[in-house]
Amino acid sequence: MPEITYVVPDGTSHVVDVPVGQSVMDGSVRNNLPGIVAECGGSCSCATCHVHVDEQFAASFGEITDEERDLLEYAEDVCDRSRLSCQLVVTAGCDGARVTVPDSNG
Ligand code: FES
Repeated sequence: MPEITYVVPDGTSHVVDVPVGQSVMDGSVRNNLPGIVAECGGSCSCATCHVHVDEQFAASFGEITDEERDLLEYAEDVCDRSRLSCQLVVTAGCDGARVTVPDSNG
């Protein structure tokens, strides 16, 4: 199962096995990690699942959609590595990926 590392707002790292087909948001919520609130439950309408994806893993996930890009305008601490973690579907190629939950989510 792909391992995803989450760096949460208190600075600690958590390595989680996330099944292929689940989202990076699912992996966080199912393991009760702090930071990713996921208010809308993954339907790309709340932006409380915002993360920064480490550059070398950005291409491991699907392309950003216009809907996701529009919603990110409402998030804080947005950068060019910003994604909504509910839209990051885990594949075998995501093994070892690292995402950082911005402080503003904490
Ligand atoms: S969980 Fe709401 S946009 Fe991702």
